Order: sequence, then C-alpha cells, then structure tokens
Amino acid sequence: MDTPRTSLSDSVTDTIDQVEAELRANPRKWLVTGVAGFIGSHLLARLLALGQTVVGLDNFETGKAGNLNEVLSQAKAEDSRRFQFIEGDVRELRVCRGACEGVDIVLHEAGLGSVPRSIENPIATHEVNVSGFLNMIFAARDSKVGRFVYASSSSVYGEVPGQSKQEEILGEPLSPYALSKKIDELYAKIFTQVYKVESIGLRYFNVFGARQDPEGPYAAVIPRWTAALQAQKPCIIYGDGETSRDFCYVENVVQANILAGMAPANSPAVNQIYNVGAGGETSLNQLFTMIRDRLAEGDRRLRDATAQRQPFREGDIRRSLADISKARKLLGYSPRFNVAAGLDKTLLGATRASDAALLATEMAANAAADVRPVHAA
Ligand SMILES: NC(=O)c1ccc[n+]([C@@H]2O[C@H](COP(=O)([O-])OP(=O)(O)OC[C@H]3O[C@@H](n4cnc5c(N)ncnc54)[C@H](O)[C@@H]3O)[C@@H](O)[C@H]2O)c1
Repeated sequence: MDTPRTSLSDSVTDTIDQVEAELRANPRKWLVTGVAGFIGSHLLARLLALGQTVVGLDNFETGKAGNLNEVLSQAKAEDSRRFQFIEGDVRELRVCRGACEGVDIVLHEAGLGSVPRSIENPIATHEVNVSGFLNMIFAARDSKVGRFVYASSSSVYGEVPGQSKQEEILGEPLSPYALSKKIDELYAKIFTQVYKVESIGLRYFNVFGARQDPEGPYAAVIPRWTAALQAQKPCIIYGDGETSRDFCYVENVVQANILAGMAPANSPAVNQIYNVGAGGETSLNQLFTMIRDRLAEGDRRLRDATAQRQPFREGDIRRSLADISKARKLLGYSPRFNVAAGLDKTLLGATRASDAALLATEMAANAAADVRPVHAA
C-alpha cells in the first residue's frame, strides 16, 4: 500500500502544485465519504482531474445524486471511469469496512452539519458524527489505510477570547454539533496513541461554493441568501449583523485535504489538527452587501435590497476567524481564494481582475510571514 508521501518540497508557495504533480505521477486510491455532498463532490472533482482512483460513500441523507452527476458529466470520460460509488451508511461498520478495502487515503466528510439541526436532534447528530466517525476510523485501521483525514469544525472553539482562533486554545463546545466534532478529534488522538493510525483533522471555517444546498432550515448563509435574493425574498440577519465569520471558498478546503492526505508519513505534519479558513473576517452586514452587489450585476432590481433583522440565535458564536499559520507551516497550505474571489467564482462563475489583483497582494503579504513548510523527517 502506498504511504501518502515521502518528501516535501522547500518551496513556500507551490507545495500544492508539487503534491499534485506527485499525485499525477503516482496515483493513489482515495475514499471520500459524504461524496454526494457539497465539499465531498468538490473533492471528487479535483481528485478525478488529478488522475486518482476514488471510492465514494454516501447515503444521500443531505447529499444529492445530482451533485455526483454534475461532477461526472464535467469530468473526462477516462477520469469518471476511475470512480466507484457505494450507497451506504457510515453508521454501519460493515459498510465502512467494505469502503476502506485497498484504500490509501480516507477523506471523511460524511456528517450532519449545522448547529441548529443538532440542537433539534442531538441523537441523530451523535449517531452520524460520532458513532459513524468511530466506525470509519476503526475500519480504516483494520484496512491499514495510510492516512485518515477528517472534517472537524471551527465550532469546537466555542467562545474564546482574542482576535483569531489558534488550534491549541479551545473554549467549551456550545452545541451538540460542536461536541460531536470535538469527540471525533479525541477519538482520532486515541487511535494514534493506541493503534498508530495516522490522522489529520481539519477544522473548517464556514465553507462556501457551488453545489452548497440553499434549501431547508439548516442551509448555510451564503446559498440561503443567494437563493432568497434571486427569488426576491427576504434575507434574515440574526442579531446586529456584526457577527463575523472566516468564510472559506471550497477550493481552499480541497487544497487542504489533498495536502493533509499527502503530508509525509511520520512527519510533524501528521497526527495534528489544523484550522482551514481563508484567514480573513467578514461580518454578516458586509457579506450581505457583497452577495447583493454581485447578483445586482445581473438583476438591477436587487441593487437596493436590504436584510431583515431577527434576534440572535441560540448556540451561534459571535466572531470566528482562523489563524492558519499552523497549516501554512506544517502542510504548506496557501489559500488561493479570499471571500471576494470565492464569491465571484460561486456567483459569477469567474474571478474578476480586480479581485485577482487583491488576492495577489494578500498572498504576497502572507508569503512574507514565516510560512515555510516543514521538511520530511
Ligand atoms: N460546510 C461547512 O461550512 C462546514 C464547516 C465545518 C465542518 N463541516 C463538515 O464538513 C463535512 C461536509 O460538509 P458539507 O458542507 O459538504 O455538508 P453536506 O451535507 O453537503 O455533505 C455531507 C454528506 O454526508 C452524507 N451523509 C450524511 N449522513 C451520512 C451517513 N450516515 N452515511 C453516509 N453519508 C452520510 C450526506 O448525504 C452528504 O452527502 C461535514 O462533516 C460537516 O460537518 C462543514
């Protein structure tokens, strides 16, 4: 079985390019759980484009066959032939074992997202996010999978003082969802200690992009507001609108997963947890304006749209900003999209020159910081 990787480059800026070149030269077999969901389908698209073999597992609880069809129809025929789909549930150990057979790297995305959903039904959240996680990492151990990468969440931080969240400084989880992700992190640590399973946890910060579900009570804010504006329906801001998040475009998340899956075995980069954000803070008031102004380019009636206010929601944290220096240093993570560029890609389908220029400036500033990836042991 292939180990994820044996060496890591000196370069500050092009770790992902080098890792992708290595993957093209020596393809691996990946398992993506939650493959029919928003993030899982983007992982599938990128891995297939890189010439990888991908097994996907999903029970369509929140994911959609349409997401898979969209990815496969956009992929080259020879790429889509390297995809095998298993319709199944991570709550069944037998299914997890079958999915892990012969796999080099697991990207475990299957889960029930949303804080409000978990407050409404904590048992369902626990069964999928904790018991399902335990099944997956246990099956990965038995199949001697080289690397187990899993989706954690910024919600594990709760309320912590200070500007940005650093991996080691945690508050108390504020919801069943946050607790479920925290338990996953603890299980991963135990599996490293007891069974030597190599894992990497990625704490995603408010991911957005195409194929994110706008429907239902648990939809994330960007697809929900986009759909509402397009339908000329009200957008609701809970609280004063100064609640802020580190909105992270999904292609940054794909990059982090590939780097985590391929981080050198036995190196300081593995058996770690990383923040995965874009490293910038956007308030809900700012976000509303950014979405509205982009959509107004195609529909001038939206130019003066305003948001409606409702009281703060239970379990919501006030500010959320990722310190991504650990991922930069140990994984060579270098997000290529800020919020504006990500919204352009999501809403307008292209990166505008002005945003690309802004991003280049930000990237240059980031590169000036101490961001050298660590060498393989
Ligand atoms: N989107 C975000 O902003 C965000 C932030 C933090 C963490 N996460 C985590 O990232 C992961 C992916 O999130 P997403 O935004 O793509 O959500 P999503 O709902 O689009 O995808 C989750 C996928 O998991 C599948 N799934 C659910 N229960 C399952 C089960 N029992 N067995 C098999 N498959 C099952 C769903 O059908 C769906 O396809 C989740 O674990 C989520 O908690 C997401």
